[in-house]
Amino acid sequence: MKQEWQGRDRHVGYEQAFERAERDPEGFWMNAARALDWITKPTCAHDPATDTWFPDGTLNTCANAVDRHVAAGHGDRVALIHESPITGHTTSFTYGELLDRVARTAGMLASGGVKKGDRIVIYMPMVPEAVFGMLACARIGAIHSVVFGGFAAPELAKRIEDSQPVAVLTASCGLEPGRTIAYKPLLDRAIELSAHKPAACFVLQREQLRCDLVPGRDRDWQTACDAAAAVDPVPVASADPLYILYTSGTTGTPKGVVRDNGGHATALAWSMAHIYGIGAGDVFWAASDIGWVVGHSYIVYGPLLAGATTILFEGKPVGTPDAGIFWRIVDRHRVKALFTAPTAIRAIRRADPDGEFIAQASLDSLSALFLAGERADPDTLLWIAAKLGKPVIDHWWQTELGWPAIATCFGLGETRIKPGSAGRAVPGYRFKVKDEAGADAAPGTVGTLLIEQPLPPGNFRALWNKPERFREGFVDFAGHYTTGDAGMIDDDGFIHIMGRTDDIINVAGHRLSTGQMEEVVANHPAVIECAVVGAADELKGEMAVAFVVTRAGTADLPTVKQEIVRMIRDDIGAIASPRDVLFTDALPKTRSGKVLRNLLRAILNGQELVVPQTIEDAGVIEALVALAAPGSAPKNTV
Ligand code: COA
Ligand code: AMP
Repeated sequence: MKQEWQGRDRHVGYEQAFERAERDPEGFWMNAARALDWITKPTCAHDPATDTWFPDGTLNTCANAVDRHVAAGHGDRVALIHESPITGHTTSFTYGELLDRVARTAGMLASGGVKKGDRIVIYMPMVPEAVFGMLACARIGAIHSVVFGGFAAPELAKRIEDSQPVAVLTASCGLEPGRTIAYKPLLDRAIELSAHKPAACFVLQREQLRCDLVPGRDRDWQTACDAAAAVDPVPVASADPLYILYTSGTTGTPKGVVRDNGGHATALAWSMAHIYGIGAGDVFWAASDIGWVVGHSYIVYGPLLAGATTILFEGKPVGTPDAGIFWRIVDRHRVKALFTAPTAIRAIRRADPDGEFIAQASLDSLSALFLAGERADPDTLLWIAAKLGKPVIDHWWQTELGWPAIATCFGLGETRIKPGSAGRAVPGYRFKVKDEAGADAAPGTVGTLLIEQPLPPGNFRALWNKPERFREGFVDFAGHYTTGDAGMIDDDGFIHIMGRTDDIINVAGHRLSTGQMEEVVANHPAVIECAVVGAADELKGEMAVAFVVTRAGTADLPTVKQEIVRMIRDDIGAIASPRDVLFTDALPKTRSGKVLRNLLRAILNGQELVVPQTIEDAGVIEALVALAAPGSAPKNTV
C-alpha cells in the first residue's frame, strides 16, 4: 500500500517555516507541492512574468481529493458525513462511494454537453450532491461557480449573466428552521432576468418539496445520474481556473474571484497540516456553507485533499434542535478540529450561557476550535475557551485569498494567542501597514493592511471577465495587495484587524455590500436619498441600518419601511435584512456633497463623534443623534 504523504515536516516550527518561506519561496512551495499527485510535475514554483504558480505543472484537483485516496487503499475510509439535524438524517460516504458518485455526476454533466473550461453554476442547499457537483466539475475541468442558497433571484441572475454557465445544478428546495425554501422558482426567475440562458438545469428532487421541470431544459438529477457512465479525471494546467466565487465588492456588482487548480490545492494541503493540524484519517468540520469561501476550502477541497473526513452540516448552531448540536456532532464523529464563525458561538452562548450542553458531550477528540469570518471579540473567545478547555484560535482571511493569511499555526505547534488579534502572518504572507500618507506605519499604529506581492499560491490573480480589475482595484502604487481591512501589527508580530476600510459589512460572518443595499433602497419610489451602514450587533457582529430621506409628503412611513425591507430581502436575500430603517430629513454631508457614512456609523454605535470642519449642516447631526443613538428613543422609526 502506498504511504500517504502528510505534507508536513514535523521538525519545523512556525519561526523556521516562516523564515524558509521568506528566504526561499521556490523551495518552500515546491516542497509543499509534493503533497499532491501531479500528472506533469512542475519544474518551478512561481513564474514572476505571468505571476502563476507551478506554471508547467498539470494535475486534476478532483483526482487529488478523491481518486488517489482510493488508489492508495483507503476506499473504505469515510470521506463525507452529511449531518442534517433539520431532516433528522445522518449519511456517510466512504472515499470509494464518493469516487463512484462524483465520477457519475461528472458523466451526468458530460451528457449535458459540458466540456473543459465551461462554467457551471451550482445553486444548492447543504446536501451531498452539491459536493459531488463541485468535484465533478473539477474532474472534467469545468469551472464551477457556487451561489449561496440564501441569495435571492436577482443576485443569482447577476452571477449567471457574468459567468455564462452551460448548465446549472440545483435542488427543488432548501430547508431553513421552520420553513422550506423553494429553490426552483428562484432559479426560474433568475434565468428569466438574465440575458444568458443556460442550456441545461439538473434538478435534485428532495422529498420535502418536489418541483416541476421545464421541458427541454430541466433534467431530473437522479435519472440523469443513474443513466450516466463514470468519467475519468482530465489533466488541467495548474493555472487553469477551478472555480469562480462571487463576493461583495463596494458596488452592486459582485466580483468573480477566480481560483486556480495547482496553487489552490498546494496551499490547502499545506494549510490542513500546518494550520489546522489535520492529516489523513482525521475528522475535520467547518460549520459553514458551501456558498462561501470557507465552505469551498474547508468543507470540500482542503479536508479531502488531506485524505481526512469532512462534515457537511445542514443546520444551525442553535434551534436545530438546540444549542448542543455542535458538541453532540463533535462527540459522535470524534471531530478533531472544528471551524466556525464567532456569531455561531455568540448564538450558542446566548442559548446556553453556562455551557451545560458542552459539559454533557465528550470532547476529548477535539484538539482546537478555529474561528474566522468576522472579528472574534475577546469576550466570546475567552468564554468558549474556558468552557471547552481547548485552544480557541482566531484566524483571518478573505474570499480573494482562499486560505488563512493570519493565524496561530496550530499544526506547527503554535498555541500562543492574543485575544483581539487574529494571530501572526502565515508563512508565505508578508504583511505591511501603511498610514494615510502611504508611509510604513510604526508597530502598534493602525493603518491600511497590505500584503506584499507576489501573493502566495491559492490567492486570486484575477476577477472573472475583468482581468484588469486586479491591478486597478486591489494593488496600490507600490504593488501591494490592498486587503480592504484596517489593521495594526504589534511588537510581537501579532496582527490586529480593526474592520473594513470600505463599504463592506460582515453580518453573521456573511460578507455584504452596503453600497449594493443602497442601490436597492434608492429604487423605492418614495426615497430621495439613502445611506446604509453597519451597526454593531451583539449577535451577528454587524447589521445593516438604512438612513432614508423620503420625498416631501410621504405620509405612510410604516408601509415604506416594510417595502424597503421586502425589497432588500427579494433583491439580495433574507441574510441582508436590515435591522432598522430610520427616516431623516437630511443626511450629513461634506460641502462637496459626500455622505459621511463614518459619522452615521459612529452615531449608531454610540461612539465619539468626530465632525469634520467641512460638514454642510451641523443641525443634521444633532437630529440624527436623537434619532439613532443607542438608548435614545427613536422618534421617527416605525
Ligand atoms: N437559504 C435560504 N435562506 C437562508 C439561508 C439559506 N442557505 N441562510 C440563511 N437564510 C435566511 C434565514 O432563514 C433568515 O431568514 P429570516 O430573516 O426570514 O428568518 C435570514 O436568512 C438570516 O439568516 P441567518 O443569518 O442564518 O440568521 P438567523 O437569525 O436565522 O440565525 C445564527 C442566526 C447566528 C444562528 C446564524 O446567523 C448562524 O448560524 N451564523 C453562523 C454563520 C456562519 O457559520 N457563517 C459562515 C462564515 S465562516
Ligand atoms: P470573506 O471574503 O467573506 O471571507 O470576508 C473577508 C472579510 O471578513 C475580511 O476582509 C475581514 O474584514 C473579515 N474577517 C474575516 N476573518 C476575520 C477575522 N478573523 N477577524 C476580523 N475580521 C475578519
